[in-house]
Amino acid sequence: MTEQPDAHGHAADEDRATARAREHTAAVEKALGALDLDTKAGLLSGQDMWTLPAVPAIGLRSLVVSDGPIGVRGRQWSAEDPSVALPGPTALAATWDPELARRAGHLLAQEARRKGVHVLLAPTVNLHRSPLGGRHFECYSEDPLLTGAIGAGYVRGVQQGGVGTTVKHFVGNDAETDRLTVDNRIAPRPLRELYLAPFEHIVENAHPWGIMTAYNQVNGSTMTEHRYLVREVLRGEWGFDGWNVSDWTAARHTVRALRGGLDTAMPGPRTVFGAPLAAAVRAGEVAESEVDEAVRRVLLLAARTGCLEGVPAAVAPEDVPEGIDGRAVAREVARRAFVLLRNEPVGGGRAGGERSGDERPAGEGRALPVDAATVRQVAVIGAAARDARVLGGGSATVFPEQIVSPLEGLRAALPDDVEVTFAVGADPRTRTPHARAGFTLRARYLTEGGQLLAETPQFDGRVLVMGRYPEGVTQHTLHAVELTGTFTPQITGRHVLAVSGTGDLRLTIDGDVRFDDRCTPDGSDPFEAFLHPAERRVEAVLTAGEQVDVTLRFVPAALGLGADMDALSFALGHAEPQLDPDAEMVEAVRAAAAADVAIVVVATTEEVESEGFDRSDLRLPGRQDELVTRVAAANPHTVVIVNSGSPVELPWREQVPAVLLSWFPGQEAGAALADVLLGAHEPGGRLPTTWPARLEDAPVTRVTPDDGTLPYSEGLFIGYRAWQRSGTDPAYAFGHGLGYTDWEYESLDTTPDSVRVRLRNTGRRAGRETVQIYLVPTAPAGDEAPERPARWLAGFAVVEAAPGESAEAEIPLPDRAFEIWDETAGGRRRVKGDYTVEASHSIDDCRLTAQVSVR
Ligand code: BGC
Repeated sequence: MTEQPDAHGHAADEDRATARAREHTAAVEKALGALDLDTKAGLLSGQDMWTLPAVPAIGLRSLVVSDGPIGVRGRQWSAEDPSVALPGPTALAATWDPELARRAGHLLAQEARRKGVHVLLAPTVNLHRSPLGGRHFECYSEDPLLTGAIGAGYVRGVQQGGVGTTVKHFVGNDAETDRLTVDNRIAPRPLRELYLAPFEHIVENAHPWGIMTAYNQVNGSTMTEHRYLVREVLRGEWGFDGWNVSDWTAARHTVRALRGGLDTAMPGPRTVFGAPLAAAVRAGEVAESEVDEAVRRVLLLAARTGCLEGVPAAVAPEDVPEGIDGRAVAREVARRAFVLLRNEPVGGGRAGGERSGDERPAGEGRALPVDAATVRQVAVIGAAARDARVLGGGSATVFPEQIVSPLEGLRAALPDDVEVTFAVGADPRTRTPHARAGFTLRARYLTEGGQLLAETPQFDGRVLVMGRYPEGVTQHTLHAVELTGTFTPQITGRHVLAVSGTGDLRLTIDGDVRFDDRCTPDGSDPFEAFLHPAERRVEAVLTAGEQVDVTLRFVPAALGLGADMDALSFALGHAEPQLDPDAEMVEAVRAAAAADVAIVVVATTEEVESEGFDRSDLRLPGRQDELVTRVAAANPHTVVIVNSGSPVELPWREQVPAVLLSWFPGQEAGAALADVLLGAHEPGGRLPTTWPARLEDAPVTRVTPDDGTLPYSEGLFIGYRAWQRSGTDPAYAFGHGLGYTDWEYESLDTTPDSVRVRLRNTGRRAGRETVQIYLVPTAPAGDEAPERPARWLAGFAVVEAAPGESAEAEIPLPDRAFEIWDETAGGRRRVKGDYTVEASHSIDDCRLTAQVSVR
C-alpha cells in the first residue's frame, strides 16, 4: 500500500524547482534595483494589522497574512468572513499522521486563496514543556520528532497550495506568563535536541517560506534580535532562505532587529522599521546593503506567493489542489484525532484492580462503540454537549459558518426511535456565552448623524474588528455600531442577556430600553479590555416561540490600543433560563438514570485555557468532576468526552467504563463524535503528550519567571523523558490510545537505517494502528556515555488492515536518532553502543524488541 516515489518524477520536479528559484532570484534583483531607500524601508514594515505595502511601480502586490493554525481567519476578526475550523493542533498531532496534516494543509491553502491570503501565520511548533502552558493546545507535542513531522506535513500541504507559512514562534515560547519579556535560560543540549529540533526538521524537510520570531528572550537576547539563533543557526547552519517576521509588536529596536536578522516588523503602520529604519541608514547606523538583504527576502516571498508580477509563483496554478470539501476534512481529522483513553465492559472495571478481568476483544462487550440498535434512550449531559468548545482562544480563533455540537451530531446519527434527552448538569462558564441559538443578527455601522456606513451579517453576538473596518467605514466617520435583529426563545422563562464593551452600551428589547450605561474596563491592560471587556447582565422574561426584536447600540471609548488601528470589540451574550446549580445537577442525574447510556461532555473554558496567560491548575472548571461522579453512580454505562486542548485531571477516570478525548474538535465536532461513539469509525488518536494524574506529578510545573528569568533547569527532561526518570506513573502515557480492534505484532526486523514491523489485525473489524519505535540505549561503548533519557521516539507509521489481515510498516531510523548535541565539538555526535529497538503500541506498551549496535 506504500506509495512508491517516482524517481523520474522527483528529478523533474527538482529541475523545475531549481529553474523557478533562478527566475525568482533574477526577478528579486531586478525589483530591488528599482527601489529607493524609503520604499525599501517601508516594505519591511506592515502597513496595517495583516498586510504589507504594495509597490505598483515594480509590480509588487500587497502581501496579506493571516492566522492560523486551524483555519484562515482572513483580514477581518469577525464572523462576517467565515472560515472552515479544523480540529486544534493537539488534535492534529494526535493523529500521528503527517500525510493527514499535509491534506489539512491543502484545505487551508484553498481557504487562504479564497480569502486573498498569501501567507498563513502557522504552524505553532513550540513544545509541551509544561501542561500549564496557556498555548499548549496550539502546539503539537512534548516530543520534538512528532512535532517536527506533523509540522513538516502541515507546511508541505499549505505550500503545495501556493500559500506561504511562518513556522512559529522561533524559539522558546513554551509558556505565556510575561511572554513579551521573559528570558528563558536554556542550555545548549536541550535547546538543540528539544526546542530547536522541530524548527530544524521542518526547515530541512519542508522548506518553509517564512518563520515568526517569538516575543520572548532566549539566553539574554530577545528573539527578534537574536543574531546567533537567527543568522548563525537558522540561516547559516540550516540554510533557511525564507522570510523572518516578528510576532505582533515583538520588534523593539530598529538597528538591533535588522542586525538580528529580522525582515519585517508587524503589525503596522508604526513599527521600528519603515521611517525609523530609513533614518537609521541616513544617520549611518546601518548600511543600506543590510536593508537590501531583508528586502530581498520580502520580494522572494512575494515571488513565491505570486505577488510579484512578471515571474511565476512557486506553484503553478494547475498544480494547486482544488475542490477540497472542508467539512469532510474537518470531520475526518477530528475522528482520527479522538483518543480513546479507556474502554471497559459496562458494569466491570470500576476499580483499577478489576481491569484484568476483560479479555474480550477490543470494541466487543465494552462501553464503546454504543450499539444504536439496542438502546432506547440516550442522555447527553454537559454544557459543552450543546455549546461545544470547538477551538482554542486568542489569535488561533476563526469563525466557522456552522458548528455541529455533540448533541446535534448524536441526534442526527441516532435512529429516530431512540430518545435523546439533554441536561446541562454543570455549566463551568463564568461569562455569558455570545448570543447565537435563536438569534438572527447583523451589525450596522453608523455616523454620528445616524447615517448607515456599512452593514454586515453576524454569526453570533460578538462584534470584533481587529485590522480593518468593513468597506465604507473609516475611523473618522464611525461613531456607533448597532448589533440588531431578532431572537426567538425556545424556552419560556427568565433569560439572561449580557452586554460587554468599553464605551456606551444601550440594549433594547422590542423597543424597551433594558440597559443604558457607560462601561469601563476592570483592569489596566488594554488588550484584556479589548478582548474580554467586563460584562453586565440584565434579565428578560420571554416566551417560547415568540420572536422579539433586539438591538445593542455601542459607542466605543478610546482604549489606547494604538491610534492608527481599526479596532472594535463589544458583545451581546445570552443564557437560557437556568435552574439553580443544585437543581441542574439533580436533573442531569435523573436523565442519566432513566437512559440506557449517559454521554457526558466535560470541557475547559476560555477563562482557564487560552492565549495570553498560563493555566493555574489542571482541574476541570466548575462542578464538572462532581457531575461525572454522580452521573456514573446513576448509570453504569457512562461515557465521558473530554473537550479540552491540553491535559486536565480526571479524578473519576476509573469510575466510568469509557473516556474519550475530543481535544478542540473543530466545527464538525458532533458529527465526528457520533461517527466514533456509534462505531461507524474507530477513534484513531494516540496521545502526543503525557497526561498526568495530578498536576503535582507533572515534571515541569514552573512557568512563572523570577526577576524576569525562567530557567529551563530540567534540561533534557520534559514530557515522557522526565516521567520515565522519575518513575511516577502518569494517568495515561505518551502514545496511548485504544481502537476498536486488536493487533498482534508479529515481527520486527532491522536494517542499518530502518526497521520493518509486521503486524496482524486479530480483531473483527478493520482498523488502523500507529506503530511507534523507541530507542533504548543499553550498553554505551567506552566512556562515551552522555546523560540520555531511558528511551525516546525514533520513528512511527500508521498502518491499516482488514480483520485477520496483516500489514507492514517500514520506518526509517535516521542517524539523527542516535546523535546528541555536543557543545564542545559544536555539532552533533553519534553515540556508539548497543541499543534496544522497541516496536510499541505506546511508550509503556512495548510489543517486540530487536538489538542494534552503533560502532
Ligand atoms: C501571536 C501570534 C499571532 C499574532 C497575530 C500574536 O499575539 O503570538 O501567534 O500570529 O499575534 O495574531
